[in-house]
Amino acid sequence: MSADSWAVAVDFQEATTPAKQFDFSKKLERVRGPRHMRGDINGNLVPERKENGGVRADGDKVDLAEQSLLNKLIRRSLVRNRNQVEVLQRDPTSPLYSVKTFEELRLKPELLKGVYNMGFNRPSRIQENALPMMLAQPPQNLIAQSQSGTGKTAAFSLAMLSHVNPENEWTQCLCIAPTYELALQIGQVIEQMGKFYPDVKLAYAIRGNRLGRGVKLQEQIVIGTPGTVLDWCTKYKLIDPKKITMFVLDEADVMIATQGHRDQSIRIHRQLTKNCQMLLFSATFEDSVWRFAEQVVPEPNIIRLKREEETLDTIKQFYVFCREKEDKFTALCNLYGSLTIAQAMIFCQTRKMASWLASSLTVEGHQVALLSGEMTVEQRASVIERFRNGKEKVLVTTNVCSRGIDVEQVSLVVNFDLPVDFDGNADNETYLHRIGRTGRFGRRGFAVNMVDSKHSMDVINQIEMHFNRRITKLDTTNLEEIEALIS
Ligand SMILES: Nc1ncnc2c1ncn2[C@@H]1O[C@H](COP(=O)(O)OP(=O)(O)OP(=O)(O)O)[C@@H](O)[C@H]1O
Ligand SMILES: [Mg+2]
Repeated sequence: MSADSWAVAVDFQEATTPAKQFDFSKKLERVRGPRHMRGDINGNLVPERKENGGVRADGDKVDLAEQSLLNKLIRRSLVRNRNQVEVLQRDPTSPLYSVKTFEELRLKPELLKGVYNMGFNRPSRIQENALPMMLAQPPQNLIAQSQSGTGKTAAFSLAMLSHVNPENEWTQCLCIAPTYELALQIGQVIEQMGKFYPDVKLAYAIRGNRLGRGVKLQEQIVIGTPGTVLDWCTKYKLIDPKKITMFVLDEADVMIATQGHRDQSIRIHRQLTKNCQMLLFSATFEDSVWRFAEQVVPEPNIIRLKREEETLDTIKQFYVFCREKEDKFTALCNLYGSLTIAQAMIFCQTRKMASWLASSLTVEGHQVALLSGEMTVEQRASVIERFRNGKEKVLVTTNVCSRGIDVEQVSLVVNFDLPVDFDGNADNETYLHRIGRTGRFGRRGFAVNMVDSKHSMDVINQIEMHFNRRITKLDTTNLEEIEALIS
């Protein structure tokens, strides 16, 4: 992490507020959220069925592991969140500890140095509560949920490093993650944090990393994917599961999206002793994650940090009436000059439409970037990076690909296709996610919706009613109004 992003991260930290303890009886509703909704990878609530089939209404495939990786590849700093942490203690009578500084944790000096060297100067919201809980004696189990980027992985990495006894040359901490790439990402955090603590060693239990049968690993920390970890524990006996004293399941929501991973995780869990400390982390917390968590983390403490809600309060919304589909393109070309005053994102319903639109705009001589589902994660990360650095001013994309882009910097969003669900009704959640802002900066934004049929006009009306906000008609042949607003 660079010094620059550190400065931003520190800025984002909020004045400290005491953690809120929540009532056991309300546990389920509070932890689970409304029944018909589930969270996406960013902790947004989206209707459950949309992702169940693996293909969304916009035709793009959802790969949660890829999205999660993408989030990490493009993240520069801690994600800010002003909400209060909710804590549900297994023993409500025991005092609730939270820390405001890393010093309070009485870490080994080598580790404290590692933490500061990463540019962390104080615990994030979720870390304030999670760290003392994970480091407490006797050990306590923990289930923690907070949106992507709030410091969960950094938190348990520190807990693992702090937990191990470097003099014991056997595996003591075991961490599993859904994919090879995500396991590597976690490993990098541990390596960076443990930079000044060379006695602690780390091994990767990932596909292709073959070791001889029956030789016990000396690395104190092993991180890997469920299948390989299971093999290392059972088939190859490289790890003695009875000697594992800390077990971490990261990205639980992504993990359970693959049935095989879910079952393998449970099988690993069964090999462990009762005294092993169990920790589970998830960016979202729908019912299925909760059921899984209950299976693998007995008698847990639960920590939850709700994501900051997005609002439309500071967004001016317009619609452009087009007689037919072809008109939409002309209207967009008319708008183009205004788009490039600031940065704009153009959303299409399908990959095909996005590719067509990007190439048509290019043929017209406009410079646009395309973020598409066919690209590899690395290619997508690089397109987003270029866009965020202002190298491209206009980005054409579908919903799925755009996750991870910090919309705060995009002042104009064009819905070339309106967001609709499978039944053709307004998809209000997606609309909000595309154009909304978290209340914190109150930054202004503009949304232009392309309407090309009576049906899409109905969708606009549904959106207006849902959010109780007016969407004004815009004449793209007379753009003085919008240009005056943007500049
Ligand atoms: N206390 C801190 N101070 C400053 N930066 C931090 C702190 N903790 C974590 N970070 C940084 O914030 C970013 C997000 O942290 P981390 O990856 O741990 O979040 P996460 O909750 O695990 O996200 P995800 O759900 O995507 O895995 C990283 O760049 C990390 O280095
Ligand atoms: Mg993480």
